[in-house]
This record gives sequence, structure tokens and C-alpha cells, in this order.
Amino acid sequence: MPLVNTKEMFKKAYEGNYAIGAFNVNNMEIVQGITAACKKLNAPVILQVSSGARKYANHTYLTKLVEAAVIETPVPVALHLDHGDSFELCKSCIDGGFTSVMIDGSHLEYEDNIALAKKVVEYAHPRNVTVEAELGRLAGIEDNVNVSDQDASYTNPAQVEDFVERTGVDSLAIAIGTSHGAYKFKPGQTPQLRLDILEEIEKRIPNFPIVLHGASSVVPAFVEMINRNGGKMPDAIGIPESMLREAAKRAVCKINIDSDLRLAMTATIREYFNQNPSHFDPRQYLGPARAAIEGMVEHKIKTVLGCENKA
Ligand code: G3H
Ligand code: 13P
Ligand code: ZN
Repeated sequence: MPLVNTKEMFKKAYEGNYAIGAFNVNNMEIVQGITAACKKLNAPVILQVSSGARKYANHTYLTKLVEAAVIETPVPVALHLDHGDSFELCKSCIDGGFTSVMIDGSHLEYEDNIALAKKVVEYAHPRNVTVEAELGRLAGIEDNVNVSDQDASYTNPAQVEDFVERTGVDSLAIAIGTSHGAYKFKPGQTPQLRLDILEEIEKRIPNFPIVLHGASSVVPAFVEMINRNGGKMPDAIGIPESMLREAAKRAVCKINIDSDLRLAMTATIREYFNQNPSHFDPRQYLGPARAAIEGMVEHKIKTVLGCENKA
């Protein structure tokens, strides 16, 4: 099956009350771990590449790894640009074989965000590529986005209808309490997802696919594994999986997960070296790391996404 865009995936996910996992990929073991889980559970998947990943691994290497995964994995796979920050970057990914792109203008003024998203849609749609945009600002840090808690803001439901209509985007990322990275809440703070805002948004744009970024749960078992193997992440806290499951049953059709994969991989490698201090063959520690990613994706498909057997 060739790479697909997200149109059909999201339609089925919306109607079936589940979500598709969008997992960030940076190297071969990550691509293999994710797609092995999807093959095993017969689940559709979005493999997403950030501009940081593209700088790290190179566009050609990543697209060829994904092509290989598509050959080995008989489920629908979309290749998506995560947090595209310019028209030029989106264009380069569209021209280079991606089937879906995100244009992240969430830091721009409302009208500028609309104009940029519209320009990307006008280039993407004739080429059968779907477009995600973002309204509202998540806290957290990644390569292109560095938003302090004070600057973060929930999506304003009053704007979504106008935004979607004027841009023509295929899906919309919203801010309802998730944030990027492994430190989503302060110790003592109660994690919460504003499902009331999601409900309000759903009413205004019925049947429209919603995306949640920053949706790692920072699975405690892996944080503990890091900490008992020489790491120092005592205050890492994510969004509870039960809350994400609720969102996946509603209009949320795409759930972005990167940090949980990073934690699983890093925890496994740390433990491996603690137990095998004299080993130096990368296959010996990257193999278990890949298996940990596979296990994490299986876990997400079953407990958060609900997309098992939806390929
Ligand atoms: O939200 C972004 C992803 O976690 C990618 O992070 O920009 O460090 O590759 P990155
Ligand atoms: P996490 O940092 O919560 O995994 O979020 C990833 C993400 O939103 C990628 O765009
Ligand atoms: Zn994100």
C-alpha cells in the first residue's frame, strides 16, 4: 500500500470514535519500533518528522526509511511534517514526498496565521497533500517552538469556524491543556485536559478532525527506570492516559506522541549500560530500545488511541 494522506484516516477515526497515533521519527530503530507495533495490531499510523529531525537525519534518509517501513507494514501510513514553520519548509516536504504537512502559525497574529495556512493549503491540496494548522498556543519547548507558561493560551472556540473556513485546512491542532516535553505540570498541580473547550469546538465545527499535540503521558515506569539508572528526572509529569482516551472518543483524530518514545528508548539504554557496562556493540542496546518503542506504541494503541484493527 503506498503512503496515504490523512483524509480517509481521519474520516474513519471521527466516525469510529478513535484517534490515529502520530509518532515522531528520527532514526531507523524508531521507525521500525513504531511500525512493528502497528503491523502487529493492524493499526493505521502517522509517522511525523520535525524540522529538527530533518536536520538531524536528512530528508532523503528519513523518507527512504519510511518507504522501507511502508513495504514492510501492510497498514495505512502517512508521512507528515510536524511543526512546519514556513511555507518554504512545507513546500519542500510536499515536493519531497510527504503526504501531510503541519503549518504552525500559532505564534502569529490571527490574520497572519490564516494567510500562511491558506497559502500552504493552496499549494498542498492540488498535490493531494493534507494540511494541519494550529490555533491557540501550547506551553513547552521543542526546536521551533519555545512557549513559556505565561504565553500559552487555550484555543478560543469562537475563532475556529472562521479559521477553518477561511484557510481550508484539513485538521486543526488546539490547545486544551497539553504541552510539549516531559514536564507538563508542576509537582502538586492537578493535570487536566479542558474537555469542555473541546466540546465547544466540536459544536462549532462538527465532523472536523482535531489534533492534540504534547500528548505524551510521561509514563511513570520509564521515568522511574531513568531515575534508578543514573538519570535525574524526578519532576517529569505528563497528561493522564484516561483523559486522552476520552478526547480520542470525541473529535480528536490525531494524537501526537514523541516524549514517551524518547523516555522509553533512553530508559532502556540507561538500564542496559548499567547492567552491561563492558558492552559496546550498538546493536546490543539499540535492539532493546527498539523493542521498548514497539511496546510503548502497542500500549498507546490499546489504552489511548483505540485504533487497533482499524487499518
Ligand atoms: O513537538 C515536537 C516534537 O516533540 C519534535 O521535537 O523538534 O525536538 O524534533 P523536536
Ligand atoms: P510530546 O512532547 O508530549 O510527546 O508531544 C509531541 C508533539 O506534540 C509532537 O508534535
Ligand atoms: Zn507538537
